[in-house]
Amino acid sequence: MDYNVLMEKAIEASKNSYSPYSKFPVGACVLTTNDKIYTGCNFENSSFGLTICAERNAIGSAIADGERKIKAIAIYSPNTDNCYPCGACRQVLYEFKSENGIDIILKQGDGLTYYKIDELLPGGFDL
Ligand code: THU
Repeated sequence: MDYNVLMEKAIEASKNSYSPYSKFPVGACVLTTNDKIYTGCNFENSSFGLTICAERNAIGSAIADGERKIKAIAIYSPNTDNCYPCGACRQVLYEFKSENGIDIILKQGDGLTYYKIDELLPGGFDL
């Protein structure tokens, strides 16, 4: 799967963001080990703590469709280069990593940057 395609889908998803409070739209696109693709955007609430990040929205759609292993995720915000996943989303990603981990794909200028989940969350919690 071309990671540029995942990023394009993350960019498209960010356009559906509901972020009237932060005005910080985010889109995400997850690729599972079955080569299925799921997108998500952040959606906020007037009770601010109920906000759901784009990454967890996309992961939730994958899980609801029966997927369990994620091999890559693209994350995008028009507001910043390299929109890194928050700590909570890193832990949620960690739960569903494939045997090759998860490639985390960010947009930097016209190019992409790549990280592994183990790099962004060393010693992630596991039962
Ligand atoms: N946000 C995400 O969707 N993903 C991240 O990894 C960082 C933060 C959202 C949550 C909130 O709606 C807005 O960005 C500002 O924090």
